[in-house]
Amino acid sequence: MTMTMKIFQCLLLIAIVLTTLPFVSSLSTTATAKTAITGLSSPPSLPLQPPATTNNIFVNVRSQFQRNDLKRKLISATKQKDKDESLIFSLVEELSKFNPTDCPTQGLAGYNEEVGRGGKSSPLDGSWRLLYTNAKDAEAPARTEKDSSEKFGDTVKSGIEVSTGQVIDAMKGECVNFIALEGTTSGDDEEESNNKKPFDRIEITIKMTPLNDTRVRLDFLRGRALNSNAPFSFLRDFTFSFPPAVVGDILATIRGKDFRVEPQAYFDILYIDDQLRAHRTGEGKIFIQERA
Ligand SMILES: *[C@@H]1O[C@H](CO)[C@@H](O)[C@H](O)[C@H]1NC(C)=O
Repeated sequence: MTMTMKIFQCLLLIAIVLTTLPFVSSLSTTATAKTAITGLSSPPSLPLQPPATTNNIFVNVRSQFQRNDLKRKLISATKQKDKDESLIFSLVEELSKFNPTDCPTQGLAGYNEEVGRGGKSSPLDGSWRLLYTNAKDAEAPARTEKDSSEKFGDTVKSGIEVSTGQVIDAMKGECVNFIALEGTTSGDDEEESNNKKPFDRIEITIKMTPLNDTRVRLDFLRGRALNSNAPFSFLRDFTFSFPPAVVGDILATIRGKDFRVEPQAYFDILYIDDQLRAHRTGEGKIFIQERA
């Protein structure tokens, strides 16, 4: 009896396994078939499908998150003591894909402005502070400003503070780059620190002409050097002019460039929002600036 019972039990087990197996496999095939069908047709009318606008919100939130993350990484990379150039370049490249500003040159010298709209303010307008550039000191007039502690470290004596900056008047289509030296000491030492300063302030005024939504032509207009310690009064407030823009156009033409597209000096805005800005000059130099 026990023997037949065991055989019976075994047969029952086998029967159960055999009957469940096709059931399980058929279940899984119907499941995959179902997903395949919904994946293929993806009917938008399905009540469970989130509407397209919700999808857009998710995409926006995600790109905003990625943008903020990249900005934070980039700003921190520019503030490192040993700057990793290739990291900075790749972060700028990545960030440029998340540029939230459709037309960076909007409102620059009236660019892209509809008559009677009251002049929508330009993204470029205002004061900027340089965070990073790979441009050399020799390109000083072209650079917007200097990192005080680092770049002037060797050349400026102690007791002197360097402040640099850029102010853009978008409506006028002009920017002023300045370098100012200020004595940090007072009293008896003040005179001494004044004597250490080669100048008080240097300003370079540059004309900014928008060539399209992202490219800005630069023409150096004039410079001004203020030096209260100059030996001659005419040197205390000394202004000078740059060669007229047409000289640059001739030089560009000689170099085989169309100055209407590739002028002697220009930059392409890679990224701009209300806080941060990055551009690349015609010579391939990167500038990263923060709103001051
Ligand atoms: C602006 O012009 C330059 C040079 O032709 C071009 O490379 C760039 O893509 C243009 N930008 C836009 C937004 O059209």
